[in-house]
Amino acid sequence: MSDFQLTRTLDEDAADKALRADVLNGLTRFPKELPPKWFYDARGSELFEEITRLPEYYPTRAERQILLERAGEIAVVSGARTLVELGSGSSEKTRHLIEAMPGLRTYVPVDVSESALTGAGELLLAQHPGLRVHALLADFTKPLHLPDSEGPRLVVFLGGTIGNLLPPERAEFLASVRAMLSPGDALLLGTDLVKDEAVLVAAYDDAQGVTAEFNKNVLAVIDRELGADFHTADFDHVAVWNREREWIEMRLRARQAVTVKVRALDLLVPFEAGEDILTEISAKFRQDGVRKELAGAGLELTHWWTDASGRFALSLSVAGG
Ligand code: SAH
Ligand code: TRP
Repeated sequence: MSDFQLTRTLDEDAADKALRADVLNGLTRFPKELPPKWFYDARGSELFEEITRLPEYYPTRAERQILLERAGEIAVVSGARTLVELGSGSSEKTRHLIEAMPGLRTYVPVDVSESALTGAGELLLAQHPGLRVHALLADFTKPLHLPDSEGPRLVVFLGGTIGNLLPPERAEFLASVRAMLSPGDALLLGTDLVKDEAVLVAAYDDAQGVTAEFNKNVLAVIDRELGADFHTADFDHVAVWNREREWIEMRLRARQAVTVKVRALDLLVPFEAGEDILTEISAKFRQDGVRKELAGAGLELTHWWTDASGRFALSLSVAGG
Protein backbone atom coordinates (compact mmCIF):
# COMPACT_ATOMS: atom_id res chain seq x y z
CA MET A 1 0.00 0.00 0.00
CA SER A 2 1.41 3.34 -0.90
CA ASP A 3 1.56 6.06 1.69
CA PHE A 4 1.16 9.32 -0.18
CA GLN A 5 -0.70 12.31 1.09
CA LEU A 6 -0.98 15.77 -0.44
CA THR A 7 -1.98 18.78 1.62
CA ARG A 8 -2.99 21.89 -0.27
CA THR A 9 -2.31 25.04 1.68
CA LEU A 10 -2.79 27.07 -1.48
CA ASP A 11 -6.40 26.98 -2.51
CA GLU A 12 -7.06 28.06 -6.06
CA ASP A 13 -8.79 31.20 -4.90
CA ALA A 14 -5.81 32.35 -2.88
CA ALA A 15 -3.41 31.51 -5.73
CA ASP A 16 -5.58 33.44 -8.17
CA LYS A 17 -5.65 36.44 -5.85
CA ALA A 18 -1.91 36.32 -5.34
CA LEU A 19 -1.30 36.12 -9.10
CA ARG A 20 -3.59 39.11 -9.71
CA ALA A 21 -1.85 41.13 -7.02
CA ASP A 22 1.62 40.22 -8.31
CA VAL A 23 0.76 41.02 -11.92
CA LEU A 24 -0.94 44.31 -11.04
CA ASN A 25 1.86 45.37 -8.77
CA GLY A 26 4.69 44.10 -11.00
CA LEU A 27 3.51 45.38 -14.36
CA THR A 28 2.47 48.86 -13.21
CA ARG A 29 5.82 49.69 -11.62
CA PHE A 30 9.06 50.74 -13.26
CA PRO A 31 11.10 48.73 -13.97
CA LYS A 32 8.47 46.04 -14.52
CA GLU A 33 8.92 42.74 -12.70
CA LEU A 34 7.19 39.43 -12.01
CA PRO A 35 7.87 37.01 -9.13
CA PRO A 36 9.47 33.73 -10.28
CA LYS A 37 7.07 31.29 -8.66
CA TRP A 38 4.59 31.86 -11.54
CA PHE A 39 6.94 30.10 -13.97
CA TYR A 40 6.01 26.76 -12.52
CA ASP A 41 2.73 25.53 -13.93
CA ALA A 42 2.84 21.96 -15.29
CA ARG A 43 4.51 23.13 -18.50
CA GLY A 44 6.99 25.30 -16.58
CA SER A 45 7.97 22.40 -14.31
CA GLU A 46 8.51 20.25 -17.39
CA LEU A 47 10.65 22.93 -19.04
CA PHE A 48 12.73 23.30 -15.89
CA GLU A 49 13.42 19.55 -15.94
CA GLU A 50 14.58 20.00 -19.52
CA ILE A 51 16.86 22.85 -18.40
CA THR A 52 18.50 20.54 -15.86
CA ARG A 53 19.58 18.26 -18.72
CA LEU A 54 21.07 21.00 -20.94
CA PRO A 55 24.82 20.87 -21.57
CA GLU A 56 25.15 24.53 -20.46
CA TYR A 57 23.19 24.13 -17.23
CA TYR A 58 25.91 22.79 -14.92
CA PRO A 59 24.29 23.41 -11.47
CA THR A 60 22.19 20.23 -11.46
CA ARG A 61 25.10 17.99 -12.43
CA ALA A 62 27.48 19.69 -10.01
CA GLU A 63 25.03 19.41 -7.13
CA ARG A 64 24.27 15.78 -7.98
CA GLN A 65 28.00 15.02 -7.91
CA ILE A 66 28.27 16.44 -4.38
CA LEU A 67 25.17 14.57 -3.23
CA LEU A 68 26.46 11.28 -4.64
CA GLU A 69 29.77 11.80 -2.90
CA ARG A 70 28.44 13.06 0.43
CA ALA A 71 25.03 11.44 0.90
CA GLY A 72 26.41 8.88 3.37
CA GLU A 73 28.09 11.55 5.46
CA ILE A 74 25.00 13.76 5.41
CA ALA A 75 22.86 10.80 6.50
CA VAL A 76 25.16 10.02 9.44
CA VAL A 77 25.68 13.61 10.56
CA SER A 78 21.97 14.46 10.39
CA GLY A 79 20.62 11.12 11.58
CA ALA A 80 17.37 12.33 10.03
CA ARG A 81 14.07 10.48 10.39
CA THR A 82 12.22 13.22 8.52
CA LEU A 83 13.40 14.93 5.37
CA VAL A 84 11.68 18.21 4.47
CA GLU A 85 12.49 19.56 1.00
CA LEU A 86 11.59 23.10 -0.02
CA GLY A 87 11.05 23.70 -3.75
CA SER A 88 11.40 19.94 -4.32
CA GLY A 89 10.37 19.92 -8.00
CA SER A 90 10.94 16.41 -9.41
CA SER A 91 12.88 15.34 -6.26
CA GLU A 92 15.27 13.83 -8.76
CA LYS A 93 18.56 14.52 -6.93
CA THR A 94 17.00 14.00 -3.50
CA ARG A 95 16.72 10.34 -4.41
CA HIS A 96 20.46 9.95 -3.74
CA LEU A 97 19.99 11.30 -0.25
CA ILE A 98 16.94 9.15 0.46
CA GLU A 99 18.79 6.04 -0.69
CA ALA A 100 21.59 6.79 1.76
CA MET A 101 19.20 7.24 4.72
CA PRO A 102 17.98 3.88 6.00
CA GLY A 103 16.58 5.57 9.12
CA LEU A 104 14.33 7.87 7.12
CA ARG A 105 10.60 7.50 7.83
CA THR A 106 8.95 10.55 6.31
CA TYR A 107 9.65 12.73 3.29
CA VAL A 108 7.88 16.09 3.07
CA PRO A 109 8.32 17.68 -0.36
CA VAL A 110 7.08 21.30 -0.49
CA ASP A 111 6.39 22.98 -3.83
CA VAL A 112 3.97 25.32 -5.60
CA SER A 113 3.73 22.89 -8.52
CA GLU A 114 1.13 20.21 -7.90
CA SER A 115 2.14 18.26 -11.00
CA ALA A 116 5.74 18.13 -9.78
CA LEU A 117 4.65 16.94 -6.31
CA THR A 118 2.40 14.14 -7.52
CA GLY A 119 4.89 12.99 -10.18
CA ALA A 120 7.75 12.89 -7.69
CA GLY A 121 5.61 11.18 -5.04
CA GLU A 122 4.60 8.35 -7.34
CA LEU A 123 8.15 7.64 -8.46
CA LEU A 124 9.56 7.74 -4.94
CA LEU A 125 6.96 5.42 -3.47
CA ALA A 126 7.54 2.90 -6.22
CA GLN A 127 11.19 2.76 -5.14
CA HIS A 128 10.71 3.18 -1.38
CA PRO A 129 7.50 1.44 -0.45
CA GLY A 130 8.18 1.87 3.28
CA LEU A 131 8.50 5.63 3.06
CA ARG A 132 5.70 7.95 4.10
CA VAL A 133 5.46 10.84 1.64
CA HIS A 134 3.49 13.81 2.83
CA ALA A 135 3.58 16.45 0.09
CA LEU A 136 2.72 20.07 0.81
CA LEU A 137 1.43 22.31 -1.94
CA ALA A 138 2.66 25.54 -0.39
CA ASP A 139 4.65 28.71 -0.93
CA PHE A 140 7.91 28.37 0.98
CA THR A 141 8.19 32.15 1.41
CA LYS A 142 5.03 32.04 3.58
CA PRO A 143 4.69 30.46 7.05
CA LEU A 144 4.63 26.66 6.66
CA HIS A 145 2.68 24.20 8.78
CA LEU A 146 4.69 21.03 8.58
CA PRO A 147 2.99 17.70 9.30
CA ASP A 148 3.84 16.03 12.59
CA SER A 149 6.65 13.57 12.15
CA GLU A 150 9.54 12.04 13.97
CA GLY A 151 12.79 13.98 14.46
CA PRO A 152 15.57 14.61 13.84
CA ARG A 153 14.59 16.62 10.82
CA LEU A 154 16.78 17.54 7.89
CA VAL A 155 15.48 20.49 5.88
CA VAL A 156 16.94 20.62 2.37
CA PHE A 157 16.80 23.44 -0.14
CA LEU A 158 18.58 22.43 -3.33
CA GLY A 159 19.11 23.66 -6.87
CA GLY A 160 20.44 27.05 -5.85
CA THR A 161 16.82 28.16 -5.55
CA ILE A 162 17.75 30.35 -2.58
CA GLY A 163 19.52 32.51 -5.17
CA ASN A 164 16.15 33.31 -6.72
CA LEU A 165 15.29 35.37 -3.62
CA LEU A 166 16.50 38.93 -3.08
CA PRO A 167 18.84 39.46 -0.11
CA PRO A 168 16.12 40.75 2.27
CA GLU A 169 13.83 37.89 1.19
CA ARG A 170 16.67 35.44 1.84
CA ALA A 171 17.14 36.82 5.33
CA GLU A 172 13.46 36.41 6.09
CA PHE A 173 13.39 32.96 4.51
CA LEU A 174 16.43 31.71 6.46
CA ALA A 175 14.95 33.04 9.69
CA SER A 176 11.76 31.07 8.99
CA VAL A 177 13.83 27.93 8.32
CA ARG A 178 15.72 28.51 11.55
CA ALA A 179 12.37 28.65 13.34
CA MET A 180 11.49 25.18 11.95
CA LEU A 181 14.57 23.59 13.46
CA SER A 182 14.64 21.95 16.87
CA PRO A 183 17.90 20.97 18.56
CA GLY A 184 19.42 18.11 16.55
CA ASP A 185 17.83 19.24 13.26
CA ALA A 186 19.85 20.62 10.35
CA LEU A 187 19.60 22.54 7.09
CA LEU A 188 21.24 21.33 3.86
CA LEU A 189 21.49 24.25 1.44
CA GLY A 190 22.58 24.24 -2.22
CA THR A 191 24.21 27.41 -3.48
CA ASP A 192 25.65 28.08 -6.90
CA LEU A 193 29.04 29.81 -6.72
CA VAL A 194 30.47 32.91 -8.40
CA LYS A 195 32.46 31.93 -11.48
CA ASP A 196 33.41 33.00 -14.98
CA GLU A 197 30.76 35.25 -16.50
CA ALA A 198 30.57 33.37 -19.81
CA VAL A 199 29.85 30.07 -18.03
CA LEU A 200 27.14 31.72 -15.93
CA VAL A 201 25.43 33.50 -18.79
CA ALA A 202 25.41 30.36 -20.97
CA ALA A 203 23.69 28.42 -18.16
CA TYR A 204 20.80 30.90 -18.38
CA ASP A 205 20.79 31.41 -22.13
CA ASP A 206 21.26 28.03 -23.75
CA ALA A 207 21.81 27.42 -27.45
CA GLN A 208 18.62 25.37 -27.87
CA GLY A 209 16.45 28.13 -26.42
CA VAL A 210 14.89 26.00 -23.69
CA THR A 211 15.58 28.65 -21.03
CA ALA A 212 14.04 31.28 -23.30
CA GLU A 213 10.92 29.14 -23.59
CA PHE A 214 10.87 28.64 -19.83
CA ASN A 215 11.18 32.37 -19.19
CA LYS A 216 8.41 33.16 -21.68
CA ASN A 217 6.17 30.55 -20.08
CA VAL A 218 5.30 33.06 -17.37
CA LEU A 219 3.56 35.13 -20.07
CA ALA A 220 1.57 32.10 -21.16
CA VAL A 221 0.51 31.57 -17.53
CA ILE A 222 -0.74 35.17 -17.31
CA ASP A 223 -2.53 34.86 -20.66
CA ARG A 224 -4.31 31.71 -19.53
CA GLU A 225 -5.08 32.64 -15.93
CA LEU A 226 -5.87 36.33 -16.33
CA GLY A 227 -7.06 36.51 -19.92
CA ALA A 228 -4.09 38.61 -21.03
CA ASP A 229 -2.93 38.90 -24.63
CA PHE A 230 0.84 38.65 -24.34
CA HIS A 231 2.37 37.23 -27.50
CA THR A 232 5.56 35.45 -26.58
CA ALA A 233 6.97 36.34 -30.01
CA ASP A 234 6.91 40.02 -29.00
CA PHE A 235 9.54 39.38 -26.30
CA ASP A 236 13.16 38.31 -26.24
CA HIS A 237 14.75 36.30 -23.47
CA VAL A 238 17.72 38.14 -21.96
CA ALA A 239 20.19 36.90 -19.33
CA VAL A 240 22.72 39.36 -17.91
CA TRP A 241 25.35 39.06 -15.21
CA ASN A 242 25.11 41.85 -12.65
CA ARG A 243 28.71 42.15 -11.51
CA GLU A 244 28.06 44.36 -8.48
CA ARG A 245 25.29 42.25 -7.02
CA GLU A 246 26.79 38.97 -8.27
CA TRP A 247 23.53 37.69 -9.69
CA ILE A 248 22.15 36.70 -13.07
CA GLU A 249 19.12 38.72 -14.13
CA MET A 250 16.56 37.07 -16.33
CA ARG A 251 14.46 39.47 -18.29
CA LEU A 252 11.89 39.54 -21.05
CA ARG A 253 12.51 42.42 -23.44
CA ALA A 254 9.81 43.91 -25.66
CA ARG A 255 10.98 43.78 -29.28
CA GLN A 256 8.89 46.78 -30.19
CA ALA A 257 6.40 49.09 -28.54
CA VAL A 258 3.37 47.04 -27.60
CA THR A 259 0.36 47.39 -25.29
CA VAL A 260 -0.81 44.27 -23.51
CA LYS A 261 -4.31 43.89 -22.19
CA VAL A 262 -4.90 41.96 -18.97
CA ARG A 263 -8.63 41.32 -19.05
CA ALA A 264 -9.12 40.00 -15.51
CA LEU A 265 -7.52 43.17 -14.13
CA ASP A 266 -9.09 45.51 -16.64
CA LEU A 267 -5.53 46.72 -17.19
CA LEU A 268 -3.57 48.00 -20.17
CA VAL A 269 0.18 47.58 -19.89
CA PRO A 270 2.21 49.70 -22.32
CA PHE A 271 5.75 48.61 -23.23
CA GLU A 272 8.30 50.77 -24.96
CA ALA A 273 10.54 49.13 -27.54
CA GLY A 274 13.40 47.49 -25.62
CA GLU A 275 11.63 47.70 -22.25
CA ASP A 276 12.30 44.82 -19.85
CA ILE A 277 10.32 42.79 -17.36
CA LEU A 278 12.65 41.41 -14.69
CA THR A 279 11.42 37.85 -14.20
CA GLU A 280 14.07 36.34 -11.98
CA ILE A 281 17.41 36.79 -10.37
CA SER A 282 19.75 33.89 -9.68
CA ALA A 283 22.33 34.97 -7.15
CA LYS A 284 25.74 33.32 -7.03
CA PHE A 285 27.55 32.93 -3.73
CA ARG A 286 30.91 32.74 -1.97
CA GLN A 287 31.52 30.68 1.16
CA ASP A 288 31.94 33.72 3.33
CA GLY A 289 28.67 35.25 2.20
CA VAL A 290 26.76 32.02 2.78
CA ARG A 291 28.24 31.66 6.27
CA LYS A 292 27.29 35.25 7.12
CA GLU A 293 23.75 35.01 5.79
CA LEU A 294 23.23 31.80 7.76
CA ALA A 295 24.70 33.37 10.89
CA GLY A 296 22.41 36.38 10.43
CA ALA A 297 19.47 33.99 10.75
CA GLY A 298 20.90 32.18 13.79
CA LEU A 299 22.29 29.25 11.82
CA GLU A 300 25.82 27.95 12.18
CA LEU A 301 27.54 26.48 9.14
CA THR A 302 29.18 23.18 10.10
CA HIS A 303 30.05 21.61 6.72
CA TRP A 304 30.90 22.99 3.29
CA TRP A 305 31.23 20.67 0.31
CA THR A 306 31.84 21.59 -3.33
CA ASP A 307 32.02 19.55 -6.53
CA ALA A 308 35.47 18.73 -7.90
CA SER A 309 35.65 21.89 -10.01
CA GLY A 310 34.29 24.21 -7.30
CA ARG A 311 31.23 25.34 -9.23
CA PHE A 312 28.53 24.59 -6.67
CA ALA A 313 28.38 24.12 -2.90
CA LEU A 314 26.28 22.25 -0.40
CA SER A 315 26.42 23.48 3.15
CA LEU A 316 25.10 21.94 6.32
CA SER A 317 24.10 24.15 9.20
CA VAL A 318 22.44 23.83 12.57
CA ALA A 319 20.60 26.17 14.87
CA GLY A 320 23.40 28.14 16.50
CA GLY A 321 24.01 29.39 20.02
N1 SAH B 1 14.90 21.34 -6.21
C1 SAH B 1 14.77 21.06 -7.64
C2 SAH B 1 13.92 22.10 -8.38
C3 SAH B 1 14.52 23.49 -8.44
S1 SAH B 1 13.54 24.60 -9.46
C4 SAH B 1 16.15 20.98 -8.24
O1 SAH B 1 17.12 21.27 -7.55
O2 SAH B 1 16.28 20.64 -9.41
C5 SAH B 1 12.68 25.49 -8.22
C6 SAH B 1 11.48 24.71 -7.63
O3 SAH B 1 10.92 25.52 -6.59
C7 SAH B 1 10.37 24.45 -8.63
O4 SAH B 1 9.92 23.12 -8.49
C8 SAH B 1 9.28 25.45 -8.25
O5 SAH B 1 7.98 24.97 -8.51
C9 SAH B 1 9.52 25.63 -6.77
N2 SAH B 1 9.17 26.96 -6.26
C10 SAH B 1 9.51 28.16 -6.77
N3 SAH B 1 9.06 29.17 -5.98
C11 SAH B 1 8.42 28.56 -4.95
C12 SAH B 1 7.75 29.05 -3.79
N4 SAH B 1 7.65 30.36 -3.56
N5 SAH B 1 7.22 28.15 -2.92
C13 SAH B 1 7.32 26.81 -3.16
N6 SAH B 1 7.95 26.30 -4.24
C14 SAH B 1 8.48 27.15 -5.11
N1 TRP C 1 16.80 27.77 -9.37
C1 TRP C 1 17.17 27.82 -10.77
C2 TRP C 1 18.42 28.68 -10.91
O1 TRP C 1 18.45 29.79 -10.47
C3 TRP C 1 16.02 28.35 -11.57
C4 TRP C 1 16.32 28.61 -13.02
C5 TRP C 1 17.20 27.99 -13.84
C6 TRP C 1 15.73 29.59 -13.82
N2 TRP C 1 17.16 28.51 -15.10
C7 TRP C 1 16.27 29.48 -15.10
C8 TRP C 1 14.79 30.54 -13.59
C9 TRP C 1 15.87 30.34 -16.14
C10 TRP C 1 14.39 31.38 -14.62
C11 TRP C 1 14.93 31.28 -15.88
O2 TRP C 1 19.40 28.23 -11.44
